[in-house]
Amino acid sequence: MGSFTAFYLLVLYLVLNAAILCNGGKTSSYVRNIKGCIDMPLESDVFQAPPGYNAPQQVHITQGDHVGKAMIVSWVTMDEPGSNTVVYWSEGSKDKKMAEGKLTRYKFHDYTSGYIHHCNVKNLEFNTKYYYEVGIGQTVRRFWFITPPEVGPDVPYTFGLIGDLGQTFDSNVTLTHYESSPHKGQGVLFAGDMSYADDYPNHDNVRWDTWGRFVERSVAYQPWMWTVGNHEIDYVPYLGEDKPFKPFSHRYRVPFRASGSTSPFFYSIKRASAYIIFLSSYAAYGKYTPQNLWLEKELQKVNRSETPWLIVVVHSPWYNSYNYHYMEGESMRVVFESWLVKHKVDVVFAGHVHAYERTERVSNIAYNITNGQATPVKDPSAPVYITIGDGGNTEGLANNMTEPQPDYSAYREASFGHAIFSIKNRTHAYYSWNRNHEGYAVEADSMWFYNRFWNPVDEPSLSH
Ligand SMILES: *[C@@H]1O[C@H](CO)[C@@H](O)[C@H](O)[C@H]1NC(C)=O
Ligand SMILES: *[C@@H]1O[C@H](CO)[C@@H](O)[C@H](O)[C@H]1NC(C)=O
Ligand SMILES: *[C@@H]1O[C@H](CO)[C@@H](O)[C@H](O)[C@H]1NC(C)=O
Ligand SMILES: *[C@@H]1O[C@H](CO)[C@@H](O)[C@H](O)[C@H]1NC(C)=O
Ligand SMILES: *[C@@H]1O[C@H](CO)[C@@H](O)[C@H](O)[C@H]1NC(C)=O
Ligand SMILES: [Fe+2]
Repeated sequence: MGSFTAFYLLVLYLVLNAAILCNGGKTSSYVRNIKGCIDMPLESDVFQAPPGYNAPQQVHITQGDHVGKAMIVSWVTMDEPGSNTVVYWSEGSKDKKMAEGKLTRYKFHDYTSGYIHHCNVKNLEFNTKYYYEVGIGQTVRRFWFITPPEVGPDVPYTFGLIGDLGQTFDSNVTLTHYESSPHKGQGVLFAGDMSYADDYPNHDNVRWDTWGRFVERSVAYQPWMWTVGNHEIDYVPYLGEDKPFKPFSHRYRVPFRASGSTSPFFYSIKRASAYIIFLSSYAAYGKYTPQNLWLEKELQKVNRSETPWLIVVVHSPWYNSYNYHYMEGESMRVVFESWLVKHKVDVVFAGHVHAYERTERVSNIAYNITNGQATPVKDPSAPVYITIGDGGNTEGLANNMTEPQPDYSAYREASFGHAIFSIKNRTHAYYSWNRNHEGYAVEADSMWFYNRFWNPVDEPSLSH
């Protein structure tokens, strides 16, 4: 009874605390009891391979074209190549179709991967539930996904935001909370840093396999859209591994050609009422580089009458008031920020810093090297910048913040969690950040986003 009362008081305290903190410009004083962010051991339930000889494992899907009528299905077979075929059919239909994929493998130091299959299933109907099967004989595995509605200005759609996930016990809690979210995310925008295999000796690529098995329970059923982080680089010249992004490039595919990009590290998709641009902090972005030329053209293609919501995802944050990775995103901000303001990007999601932060709408584009105007200013055309690098990886929380908190920083907290961006129509989207609390997710920060093109008025500082 005593402990129940104590628990009740704690919850009450947290609720009141949240109410006080939610006026903006606040550093949350919430401190989570951290038990140590250790990776789940290899024999953990979430890493178990499916039963059966050569059974497909690490199944994952991502959007396969520019508008959502294709899905790239990927999986790994460990014993032999097996089949490259995806069998699929829409719910209620007896008409089973087949699509043929391609096989790849790679070696990394003393590791040899399984047989990695990628199959782009095309010409799907919008807004339709599909079942799909991979594998042959007795080891067929069946999954399903729902295609997005046709691209259009008032189509509701709910994205999950996860970054820097890793494969610790905390990562598992974050994923569980995302799966059980009452907002029901329909696809994930992943802000980079996936397996953290590179934290192991020789970047032990077995940890890429375990990560693939761990997240399968979500990513086999809804697409996760990938942004690369520094933990995908896997550049180890002293091991002879001098081609960056080798494991990532073999294991994960993105539809970059569909957006006129020449590189899988920067690309765009349309999904429902959103236009989403994925950038790479780890590809050149200065003037005349491929990413720079691509982005300049890409922003001009966005038609806000068709896709009102313009979202950018990049790994290294441009606004970050933690003492971790401080100013690492600065050089890219200097190059690209004015374009994002000009094109009225609604929100920029980043990862990298293992904590949470949300900014006010600010820009810092007045500065030139002689005028000294180097302070961010309130700017209704500027995006909100959100750092969501708090998936729960083995490197632990970033809990050392710059003091005092800069004016542009609306809310920051060193806890693990995930976010939801729920588009309601062309003017409104509900955003929430959900902290991992003991046993459940607590909505610790939220706001109504007003679309920068259709509804560019100030958002109330916070809704609760
Ligand atoms: C991971 O989370 C799932 C779902 O909550 C649970 O069933 C499983 O036991 C967890 N595994 C570990 C190793 O924590
Ligand atoms: C923008 O999209 C709207 C709605 O789909 C369409 O009517 C219009 O023609 C498009 N504008 C351009 C310039 O493509
Ligand atoms: C720098 O900014 C100042 C003040 O806005 C302006 O007068 C000056 O022309 C700018 N210099 C250049 C080289 O653009
Ligand atoms: C926080 O970071 C600053 C700047 O790097 C450093 O000087 C300080 O010692 C750190 N504080 C703690 C408690 O680690
Ligand atoms: C858009 O969604 C918001 C939030 O649900 C709602 O208040 C508003 O009335 C909607 N606008 C239209 C035109 O339906
Ligand atoms: Fe990172």
